[in-house]
Amino acid sequence: MGRILVIGAGGQLGTVLTNRLKEIYGEHQVIASDLRPIKAFTGLFELIDATDSGRIEEVVKQYEVEEVYHLAAILSANGEKNPLGTWEINMKTLFNVLEVSRLNGVKKVFYPSSIAVFGSEVEQQNTPQASFLNPSTVYGISKAAGENWAQYYFQKYGLDVRSLRYPGVIGYQSLPGGGTTDYAVDIYHKAVEEVSFSCFLEKDTTLPMIYMDDAIRATVELMQAPIESIKTRTSYNLAGMSFSPEEIAAAIKKIYPNFRITYEPDFRQQIAASWPQSIDDSRARDDWGWRPEYDLNTMTEDMIKNLKAKYSTSN
Ligand code: SER
Repeated sequence: MGRILVIGAGGQLGTVLTNRLKEIYGEHQVIASDLRPIKAFTGLFELIDATDSGRIEEVVKQYEVEEVYHLAAILSANGEKNPLGTWEINMKTLFNVLEVSRLNGVKKVFYPSSIAVFGSEVEQQNTPQASFLNPSTVYGISKAAGENWAQYYFQKYGLDVRSLRYPGVIGYQSLPGGGTTDYAVDIYHKAVEEVSFSCFLEKDTTLPMIYMDDAIRATVELMQAPIESIKTRTSYNLAGMSFSPEEIAAAIKKIYPNFRITYEPDFRQQIAASWPQSIDDSRARDDWGWRPEYDLNTMTEDMIKNLKAKYSTSN
C-alpha cells in the first residue's frame, strides 16, 4: 500500500482521522499536512497551503502518495463572512487536489461533502440521496459543485474519488471551526466546565449529527470498500442521529442536573433552518454496509467521560 496524504490534518476531522489512519496503516505511511505546524502530531508532517498546487505536487511526488484525504475547507458559518473568497478557496483547493492526483498516479481521493448541500427544495425528514440541491450557503454551493466534480473526475479520468455528506460532527478530541453545528461540541465543554451555555440556535432546531467515532469509521469503511461497491460517485448521504438544542441539553442534564442553557439565535439560525432535520442514508447502508453505532445518550456519556478526563489532566 502506498502512502497517504491528509490535507487539513489539523482540523476537527483531520486531527482524529490522521491518527486513525496511522493506527491502521502505520505511522510512516501517513503524511499529515496543514497550513500551520500542528503541535500535537508526531511523525511525518509537511506544510501545505492547498491553494498552491505546486506545493501539493511536490509532497505527492516526494512521498509517492497514492491516497489523498482533502479535508481543508471554509465551513458554512465562516464562509458567509466572505462569500467569494470562500468559493475561491474551497474550489481552488479541490481542483488542485484532483489535478495533482490525476497527473501523479494518486489512486484514491477522499472529498468530504456536507448536509449543507441541501436547501429549501428537499423533504426535511429523511432527506433522500437524490434530492434537488439548492444550498443556502456558499459553503453548501461549493460542496454541491465539488461533489459533481468528484463524479466528473471518476467518469472522465477514472480517478477513484469517494465522498460522504457529513452531518454535524461531534467529538471530544478536537474543536470545530466556523460551522453551524459547532454548538453541539461547545455545549459539552460548557457542561463539563460547569458553566451555563448560550446557544446560537433556537431550542427546537433539529439537525442531523454524528459522533466522531462513527464519522471516522464511515470514512475508513468507505475508502476500504471494493471499488465495485461504490455506486454513488457524487457523495453518499450519511446519518448518525438527529436532535435539537433542547434535546441535547436534556441528555446532558441526566448527568449534570444543574446544567443551564439559554437561547440567543444569530445568523446561523437561518442557515440551520435551511438544512434537513434527518437524512436517509440507505444507499450507504446498502452499498458498503454502513451502520452508525452512537445515539444521543451513548454519545453524551462518552463525550462527558472523555472531556472530564481531558479537563482534569489539563488543570
Ligand atoms: N458542520 C458543518 C457546518 O456546520 C456542516 O458540514 O458547516
